[in-house]
Amino acid sequence: MRTQVAIIGAGPAGLLLGQLLHKHGIDNIILERHTGEYVLSRIRAGVIEQVAVDLLDEAGVGARMHREGLVHDGTQICVDGVRHRIDFKALTGKTVMVYGQTEITKDLMDGRAAIGAPTVYGAQDVALHDFSSDQPRVTYRVDGQLHEIACDFIAGCDGSHGISRQSVPPAAISSYERIYPFGWLGLLSDTPPVSQELIYVRHQRGFALCSMRSPTRSRYYIQCSLDEEVEAWPDARFWDELKLRIDGEARVCLVTGPAIEKSIAPLRSFVAEPMRFGRLLLAGDAAHIVPPTGAKGLNLAASDVRYLSQALVEHYHEKSAAGLAHYSDRALARVWKAERFSWWLTTLLHALPGSAFDGKMQLAELDYLFGSRAAATAFAENYVGLPF
Ligand code: FAD
Ligand code: DHB
Repeated sequence: MRTQVAIIGAGPAGLLLGQLLHKHGIDNIILERHTGEYVLSRIRAGVIEQVAVDLLDEAGVGARMHREGLVHDGTQICVDGVRHRIDFKALTGKTVMVYGQTEITKDLMDGRAAIGAPTVYGAQDVALHDFSSDQPRVTYRVDGQLHEIACDFIAGCDGSHGISRQSVPPAAISSYERIYPFGWLGLLSDTPPVSQELIYVRHQRGFALCSMRSPTRSRYYIQCSLDEEVEAWPDARFWDELKLRIDGEARVCLVTGPAIEKSIAPLRSFVAEPMRFGRLLLAGDAAHIVPPTGAKGLNLAASDVRYLSQALVEHYHEKSAAGLAHYSDRALARVWKAERFSWWLTTLLHALPGSAFDGKMQLAELDYLFGSRAAATAFAENYVGLPF
């Protein structure tokens, strides 16, 4: 088999890249380790920046998002029981879209099926070969049978535990990491959201987040310790703990119900540099991870894909190598800005074990955020997404 771009991973990064390349007449095959149902079962992101919305429109898969997604003009931050609002629209002129990653992935899968572009689900033992030469190859197995794809480029869109980054010789890559001493326990339920806007909660018992997927479906998170097991959190215990962290009005409005999904995610900041190794290009979580607090992970995956698809279009249609030469630097400049914001917001809102001074600094910083238009504007600009 031969294609122009072999894409590893059918998460949002791989699917979006495939769609944009196809639009520009560039052949691609996607190899995904899991089944499509499994990929859709992972409940993750919920907040989409305008630049990611624009890219989904450009890829031709934005129609349902515009019909069903919720446009949010601002967000709420609750500090020890008192709520404050940051008005994105007033401060930046921009808004964000609340629309689940599951729905985006489904729209991208449907878009790919409609154009008849190939995706191999259940691809095992994916291996990358010769990407430092002009003739890279990818091999994989389906039902035990070995297959090979010859290609011009390999796009590593296979998330943080994928094979693409691991295939790079260690001497060629530098990693920067921070592991936070806590995780998020998330619960999805078919109950109306507690508020029209997201509420980020800073509380002595730990961070909480009240989010949503639709007017009838809510997503809540609470900070938990790293050794916590989901089984130790029956629904009633989750709701009780959430109620202790939110403000009085939210406590009255909260509608509880059975969990449709519950899972624990550890929090990590991670960046691998560079993002290009010869004809292997990394994008999305394969190259970097942010703690979820700033809602930046999926948005960064989308912005990598924007730079990468443009670079490949320049390569094929304008015979220019400039976009590919600059891909890593351009993507990383944006990545580090999102890393900074996500690290800052995580440090600001979570209970940090051990330091009373750090707790006081959080309160002083939050006081500044709510009292200074400049600080609130900086928050809003980062949250809605910095311009390219
Ligand atoms: P992934 O979604 O991880 O996709 C990679 C794909 O590659 C997977 O399907 C995987 O099965 C496949 N794969 C892996 N290894 C192989 C292999 N060897 N061979 C073939 N295929 C392979 N981001 C936001 O922007 N906003 C939010 O509100 C937000 N909230 C979040 C909340 C939580 C609780 C979590 C955990 C994350 C959140 N994120 C958020 C982050 C966001 O979900 C990720 O950044 C996003 O999924 C990255 O997309 P990706 O395509 O790069 O990687
Ligand atoms: C969601 C997740 C986030 O990390 C965030 O900052 C906002 C919303 C969510 O899953 O809805």
